Amino acid sequence: MSARKGIILAGGSGTRLYPITMGLSKQLLPVYDKPMIYYPISVLMLAGIREIAIITTPQDQDQFRRLLQDGSHWGLHFTWIEQPNPDGLAQAYLLAEDFLAGAPSAMVLGDNIFFGHGLPELLQTADAATERATVFGYHVSDPERYGVASFDENDRVRAIIEKPEVPPSNYAVTGLYFLDGTAPERAAKLKPSARGELEITSLLESYLVEDRLDIRRMGRGFAWLDTGTHASLLDAGNFVRTLQTRQGLQTGSLDEIAYTRGWIDAAQLAESARKFGKNDYGRHLMSLLRQDGPV
Ligand code: G1P
Repeated sequence: MSARKGIILAGGSGTRLYPITMGLSKQLLPVYDKPMIYYPISVLMLAGIREIAIITTPQDQDQFRRLLQDGSHWGLHFTWIEQPNPDGLAQAYLLAEDFLAGAPSAMVLGDNIFFGHGLPELLQTADAATERATVFGYHVSDPERYGVASFDENDRVRAIIEKPEVPPSNYAVTGLYFLDGTAPERAAKLKPSARGELEITSLLESYLVEDRLDIRRMGRGFAWLDTGTHASLLDAGNFVRTLQTRQGLQTGSLDEIAYTRGWIDAAQLAESARKFGKNDYGRHLMSLLRQDGPV
């Protein structure tokens, strides 16, 4: 198990998805057969992280708690933190400072979905670098919508620029940040940007100038899916559906990850499987139990 603690940032008002998100937090919307937030939680679990703070708006927190409870049924422990105003991604480190208590962290945005062969290994490499910061670069067709990495002639990262009008590369920096224990004190020194936010790119810059930032590329065998527009949300759902239907396997199944990692036992898995028995998600959990013999 990792000493690193996890943060899921699931605040924000999701205005780009209005009217859907007028009554429901974006990160609770379905991506095919699971709530969106399952997928980023699964990423932290694959990194071996079990202590997780979930940051939500005050008004949405009850619904998140109803869905996710305290995490113990997945062998996890959730701490709930409110973000009263969406003042930028780096603010999460100030809100989570007491929770982190000096530990290194992995923060994932609640609307980021990752899939790819070798993801656990990539995450474990990032986890092992406890004195450094690691982020992930992914080739996209529309980099101007993201934080974008610029590289020098030796392929070393030179800067990360938030939503540049003229992107210096096609490599977007994904919403998954492995930072060391100094992240909260660095965040405390940041000044709000022109759009009034504590920018994650400014926080990353503080590591970059000390030569303590690694950017790892997620190659073309990975999927980093966007859920920011109605069309991309539907695409993400279709991607999950296509994959799961073809393979007969699940992606983003917190129950399965917890079980295969030995964080819950067969009896606990059986309880969840019974709860979801009417659908493919539950049937898949049942099949895991059958593979391992009778409960
Ligand atoms: C945020 C970050 C951006 C990052 C992106 C990943 O942007 O500011 O650097 O590339 O998440 O999803 P937002 O989605 O809040 O516009």
